[in-house]
Amino acid sequence: MRRKLAAGNWKMNGTTDTLREVKALTDAHPDPLVDMLLCPPATLLAQMAWARGTHALQIGGQDCHAAATGAHTGDIAADMLKDAGASHVIVGHSERRSEHGETDADVAAKAAAAHTAGLIAVICLGETLAQREAGEALAVVTAQLAGSVPAGATAANTVIAYEPVWAIGTGHVPTLDQIGEVHGTLRAALRDIMREAGGVRILYGGSVKGSNAAEIFSVPDVDGALVGGASLTAADFSPIVTAL
Ligand code: G3H
Repeated sequence: MRRKLAAGNWKMNGTTDTLREVKALTDAHPDPLVDMLLCPPATLLAQMAWARGTHALQIGGQDCHAAATGAHTGDIAADMLKDAGASHVIVGHSERRSEHGETDADVAAKAAAAHTAGLIAVICLGETLAQREAGEALAVVTAQLAGSVPAGATAANTVIAYEPVWAIGTGHVPTLDQIGEVHGTLRAALRDIMREAGGVRILYGGSVKGSNAAEIFSVPDVDGALVGGASLTAADFSPIVTAL
């Protein structure tokens, strides 16, 4: 049985004032039946860990370096995220892939570093609109999966997030059939990669809102969501948590 996961990615949003949303969210879900994860900017990670108090809210980074230490100005090692209170780290988000040129091999190295540090890697992948329109979506995500999941990945230390690039922040969501087709394909492809494929959570991400969450979560093999814009306030994120 895969435990559902409602994950929020704050991206480059939020200051200390925004942490009031953590209290509102934890107050709204004092004893959630699903896992709740927020990934704030690194500047807020330790403060968010403090702000959650004894609540089971999980906290994650948005990226990590593949190395454990060294001369990498501006970067953050997985172990540092863990030290600040993180249990997870997002790797391979499409904005990292497109804005920072990260390849599948880079993502796999980052995920491996996360595992070494004891973090759960949330490995993101997804096709562009051009790839979808060319009928390449399934081939693209299957190749990304094979290239981005490192040796040593298990159901316990790895989450997959399918995020079609064209659905991120656009209000456009694939049909439920399209989501189901990709998630089913990813599940099958995972079986070629690891023994515990059946236990790996596969999240959907891209314009998830309170109004569409329930129907997306009804799709087989959708084990939760990675939410961007609608994770920034408790008012928007809470209905998504409830829909799980
Ligand atoms: O990491 C989250 C995704 O990029 C989805 O973002 O919910 O704002 O479309 P969005």
